[in-house]
Amino acid sequence: MKTLIVYYSLEGNTKWAAETLAAALGADTLRLVPVAAYPDSGFKKFLFGGKSAVMKQTPELEPYEVDMAQYARVILATPVWAGTLAPPLRSFIRREDLAGKELALVASSMGGSPGKTFEHLKALLGVTGDVPTLSLRDPRSHPSQANEEALAAFCEKLTAGTGR
Ligand SMILES: Cc1cc2nc3c(=O)[nH]c(=O)nc-3n(C[C@H](O)[C@H](O)[C@H](O)COP(=O)(O)O)c2cc1C
Repeated sequence: MKTLIVYYSLEGNTKWAAETLAAALGADTLRLVPVAAYPDSGFKKFLFGGKSAVMKQTPELEPYEVDMAQYARVILATPVWAGTLAPPLRSFIRREDLAGKELALVASSMGGSPGKTFEHLKALLGVTGDVPTLSLRDPRSHPSQANEEALAAFCEKLTAGTGR
């Protein structure tokens, strides 16, 4: 089954997770880039990003080319911002029709808790049943055994029965 990992990353942790998963699963990646970049340092980083997340903004994305029809599975990966998903993922979900895709969700946070990220993603996606999820704690800047184990278990779950 062909898999696309769609992610946004401000500081590289979600990018690291997406690329690590892509290598393990043989998946393609699509990085979402907002036209107006979020500040990536200091007080402004939390203020602007946090506000944008809480206000459920859908920032304009830089153009990307992807043929969604060729992917049976889509993994959405986001940093946790103010306990929820980062706005670029909201823009992507609003724009693309993911009906009929097998979905899985990845969240990277500083504290290790995804907050309401998965719940909110599922609501946006219109998913009511179970979806595989992976919650990581700053996997690039703070590598840990817990992250390694969670990654391995997630890959195991996704590849079970597919022979990959
Ligand atoms: C605007 C903003 C809000 C954040 N809110 C949270 C939060 O609510 N909970 C948490 O654990 N980490 C929070 N973080 C930390 C990031 O979720 C965490 O460092 C994540 O791994 C960063 O991913 P990235 O490197 O791909 O951008 C926040 C970071 C930013 C920039």
